[in-house]
Amino acid sequence: MSSTIRVAQLSDTHFLEEGAEPEGGHAYDTTEAFAAVRDHLGGRAGTGADLDLIVVTGDVADHGRTEQYRLAGDAFAELPAPVNVCPGNHDFDVPFGAGMGRPGVGTSRVVEVGSWAFLFVDSCAGMMQPDEAGCPVDPPGEARLHSNGSLGDREAAWVRGMAAASTAEHVFVWLHHPPAVTVPFMRNDDYTDEWRALLADLPRVRGFGGGHTHIPGEYELEGRPVFVAPSLKNNFSLEPQTWLPPGYRTYRFEPDGSVTSEVHLVDDQRWPRRPFGRLLRSLFMGEITHGELAEIVARRAAAAGDSA
Ligand SMILES: [Fe+2]
Repeated sequence: MSSTIRVAQLSDTHFLEEGAEPEGGHAYDTTEAFAAVRDHLGGRAGTGADLDLIVVTGDVADHGRTEQYRLAGDAFAELPAPVNVCPGNHDFDVPFGAGMGRPGVGTSRVVEVGSWAFLFVDSCAGMMQPDEAGCPVDPPGEARLHSNGSLGDREAAWVRGMAAASTAEHVFVWLHHPPAVTVPFMRNDDYTDEWRALLADLPRVRGFGGGHTHIPGEYELEGRPVFVAPSLKNNFSLEPQTWLPPGYRTYRFEPDGSVTSEVHLVDDQRWPRRPFGRLLRSLFMGEITHGELAEIVARRAAAAGDSA
């Protein structure tokens, strides 16, 4: 096959249990956002018919719970092309694996389409620890939730092995944590260095598609494009500083190894593009943590309640 491969990417769907409230004034109703994105994707002229694959790059569930995966799997099965999913820092390994399988929705690690090999990388793999049987498992507590990316030797060796073993002309990496993020709150130079070392040896890797930041964008690492998808939980632009609607990306993978991608945002009165304030800016700049932000928001809500 030598034709263009067309892919759509969703990321950071953050599914909750049925009827659960979105968090603390800083999150959209992700069931509602998913329905809007699904309809937008299906409604684009020719999209349903011409997509080869839909990828979901992690943070499928908001808290990595089994019921959240059940709803996510049911929702992904409604999308207009085969779906393949990789995990994010909100996806705990065992419930993710157990909850995602369903006809038409997979967690394959390598998918070859035409002249392209797509690698689906677990960008939290470096946090895994061996259990008594030597099997890698998530670290205890919420450590995975707060990860900004870590490949570790095992996942790096897997990427190296798969990129070398594939007979496809071109390789593209789907993963949750895009390397070389510059937003201070999420920046992780050790993780970027892991990717720099791999890219030096893997000339057939043509680029990356990730999520995690909830700030859609596009930049380069070692001459390869890095595409960052919108989230369905909440979404931001830093220039200018505004909230953005939920959305997704589409891609065209060409036989010559080039990749182009577009962001699609579902503009609607439910998700106005309003400016955000100093508090969120402080979070992105790394001046306050998520926990501190939540405390401040809760204090303000309580104060507003007292004065009502
Ligand atoms: Fe996320």
